Amino acid sequence: MSKYVIKCIFICFFSLLCISLSGCNTVNEGKRIVRIAHSQSETHPDHIGLLAFEKYVEDRLGDKYDVQIFPNELLGASVKAIELAQTGAIDFVVCSTGNLETFDDIYSIFSIPYLFDSTDTYYASMEDSFIRDKIYTATRSSGFEAVTWLDAGTRNFYTTKPVKSPDDLKGLKLRVQQSPSNVSMVKAFGAAAAPMSFGEVYTAIQQGVIDGAENNELALTNNKHGEVAKYYIYDRHQMVPDMMIGNVKFLDSLDEEERKIFDEAAALCTKVEREEWIVQIDEAKRLASEMGVNFSDVDVEQFKSKVIDLQKQMVNDNEKLAPIYERIQEINREVG
Ligand code: GCU
Repeated sequence: MSKYVIKCIFICFFSLLCISLSGCNTVNEGKRIVRIAHSQSETHPDHIGLLAFEKYVEDRLGDKYDVQIFPNELLGASVKAIELAQTGAIDFVVCSTGNLETFDDIYSIFSIPYLFDSTDTYYASMEDSFIRDKIYTATRSSGFEAVTWLDAGTRNFYTTKPVKSPDDLKGLKLRVQQSPSNVSMVKAFGAAAAPMSFGEVYTAIQQGVIDGAENNELALTNNKHGEVAKYYIYDRHQMVPDMMIGNVKFLDSLDEEERKIFDEAAALCTKVEREEWIVQIDEAKRLASEMGVNFSDVDVEQFKSKVIDLQKQMVNDNEKLAPIYERIQEINREVG
């Protein structure tokens, strides 16, 4: 039986189990099991950050909570996992804001191409209390809220054919996350967009269903996309964080002291993940080069000119975005 079939059986089995358990607190030897799902491997910075979260919670509340982490889309790809966290079948998910966008379009703020002028602006914005207040609890009526963010680097295009300018993207079919804004962005660049889950990308490139995708460099190594797509360009179109979201009923069930510990654990998760990110992203560039991936710099302004109208249109079309967008522009001016 192939790994894919085994994974599908596991997902079906677990989904059925979750449906039957949803609404109930699952308990193991008197402890409440806290389930966290994500789509990355066990060596990815997200997972390493989550291990720190697990340890922090269990060191302090281990008699009451048993934190269990499910990597590799084991509980389903991001969209499915978010649905499970919405209903309370699981408690937390780490996923990209691209995937959260269809649950609440406030998250499309991060899909706006060339939103941040620099990584410093991006980091400052993610830690800004005005922006956090606007975003983190905005989704409570959808059943979840954000507890922290994780760095997911800068997103760039990588393809099976060389690309030097936006004109070279014309006619290519590129994978995007299941996010309407990302579909619009890729179309504005002149390519065709193929929305699909992260776990499907490798095979889709390998089989020629798509000509490439867009992501940070870890996708080339951790997810092995560099084996099948050899051209990575630094067009730097987005900095899209991963968010850790939690089920509202679960978070509200915690008493004040417990909630404080879970929040501290979430902050530690971010700290550990970000430190690990810096180490792993350099290593990913080295390993991907060894795999034969060709990294090249391109004229970023040329790429930006293709999507600058879309940037304005996205802000005008969604009234939730304007105050956050304005604050990010202030930070762009202050931090540069
Ligand atoms: C990044 C991100 C993931 C996301 C993936 C994607 O790897 O960290 O959370 O799922 O991109 O493009 O789907």
